[in-house]
Formats: sequence, C-alpha cells, structure tokens
Amino acid sequence: MAPGPLAQVLCQLPQFDDPDLLSRAIPFADSGIYRIAEDLALVQSVDFFTPVVNDPASYGRIAAANALSDIYAVGGRPVTALNLVGFPKQLDLAILIQILEGGADKVREAGAVIAGGHTVDDAEPKYGLAVTGLVDPRRMVTTVGARPGDLLVLTKPLGTGILASALKAAVVTEDEIREAIDGMARLNRAASRAMMQVGISACTDVTGFGLLGHACELAVASGVCLALDFSRLPVYPQTVELAAAGHVPGGSRKNREHYLPQVVNRTELTAGQLDILADPQTSGGLLMAVPTERLKPLQAAMTERGADAWVIGSVEKAPAGALRID
Ligand code: CO
Repeated sequence: MAPGPLAQVLCQLPQFDDPDLLSRAIPFADSGIYRIAEDLALVQSVDFFTPVVNDPASYGRIAAANALSDIYAVGGRPVTALNLVGFPKQLDLAILIQILEGGADKVREAGAVIAGGHTVDDAEPKYGLAVTGLVDPRRMVTTVGARPGDLLVLTKPLGTGILASALKAAVVTEDEIREAIDGMARLNRAASRAMMQVGISACTDVTGFGLLGHACELAVASGVCLALDFSRLPVYPQTVELAAAGHVPGGSRKNREHYLPQVVNRTELTAGQLDILADPQTSGGLLMAVPTERLKPLQAAMTERGADAWVIGSVEKAPAGALRID
C-alpha cells in the first residue's frame, strides 16, 4: 500500500476478521496469507506497473520477478500466476507477446505456472501478475520477529529507481545499466530458500517504499530500532552520480515525507544519502533480520545458491519503530 491519500482510503475498507486470514495480524504484511490447513497457507500477492526499461522482454521478466517477490519474502513457494495486462490499441502486438514471454520465462524459472490472465485497453502499457503461493504458516517469515542483536542483511543493491528515471530521460542506455536490469530480473528465490534453510527472525522485500520505508515498517512491526550502516549499503554502479545529477524519481520524495519522521538522526543525513535510502526499488532484494550465530550459515547457504548477502546494520532495542543511519 503506497503512503499518501490512497493508503488512507484503503485503510478505511471493510475489515475481515476470519482467524485464518493470518496476514491480518501482521503489520505491513507483504502478501495476503490464508491458512487452509494447520501446515498449509495460501500466499497471494499482486503487482503491476508501467515499463521500467525499454526492452519488452526485460520489462516482462522484471515485472514477474517483482510480483513473485512477495511470496519469497515470507519463505513461500509460488504455484500459480495470472497475467495482468494493460495495452494500447495502437501498439504492435508483437511487443505484448515479448512482454508476456519475458514474464512466462520467470514464472517457469520459479517453478510455477501461468494459469490465465486478463487484458484491457489502456493509454500506456502496464504489466504484472497476481501470484499465489504456498507456505507452512508455522515456519513462515514475516515483518514481525526481528530481535535486538540480530544483524540486517540485504540481498540486492539499491538504486533501481534512480537508474530507471535516468534511462527514461535517455541519459544512460540499457547496456550501461545492465547490472541493475539483470538484478531486477533476478528472482528472490535463492535468497528465500537460503533463509528458510537456516532460519531467520524476520524478512521483507525492498520495493516501492525504498530501503527507508521497508526498514521502517520492519522496525514498527517488530517493535525494534534498525541501525543501518550507510557505508555498507550496496548500490548499483552510476547510481550516486545520476542521483547527484538530479535523476531522482517522484516516489523518492513521497517516501521521505512519509518515513523520515521515523529516522532519529534525520537532520544529519546528506541529500546524497537520502537519495539512496528513499529510492523506490523495482524488484529489490530481501531485507532480513538474522540472529548473529546464524549469519555464517546464512552466508554459506546464499553463496551456495548463487545469491548475494550484504550485512548492512543491526537491530537494537530502542527506540521501537525507529531507524538510525550511522
Ligand atoms: Co513486498
């Protein structure tokens, strides 16, 4: 749910109090989680957006990896997906086919199937998926559970919002930001499996609210303070320079307005630091809270599966629901 007026409307929607709707009890849950048996819950999520890159197949892959991410964030396994498409009448249908093929590639890689979908005429292309996965509700990982002393791990670099807005302004080419495009198209599956293998305290995926927003949500949901070490944040090449040159997406400002009040030392932060922290991510990595003694096993499991893991800070007791940037 985006910060702002829309979120306020959504908050006023009728509430469902079915005790099997497990996500209802999880603040800022990444997905809808519904228990259908003691050891089995459905995990459902939906996301779609306008193109973030020019190449249609890349766009499809990125949109699919992004939609699948919420299932991985809780340690679930995606099973089925439905295509959601908005497409202008006057555009060549060959473009749509490439988008859908890109999406199907990623769904296949995830071991899931596309079970259908829906298309509408639209002024500009939009693509994404509604994804259903399965998780053992007794073992799932959520935004609740980070404990003082845990270490914070991030599994993809930051900067995709800045790079996508520079791409839109045609100051960089897709080849020049290849690392970020490949990163956005990468599934969070390997990282998710590694965390389930090792066992961690809490997790969320970093998407539209940026590291700033998603870290704040984790802090609030777990009732802890997240201390981030700015110098350890992984950032895609060129991000810092392009942000300094003014290529900062609109969502970045909204993220600051909404979440900066939760940062205890916000007045000490530089404009450059804020650009990185608040940058809205497309198909970002997982942000995990990991007990210290499990860091080494987690890193080993991540390396074995070909996923990256950067230690970017730690969890502190107080102030609850706050962030500190060191
Ligand atoms: Co999410």
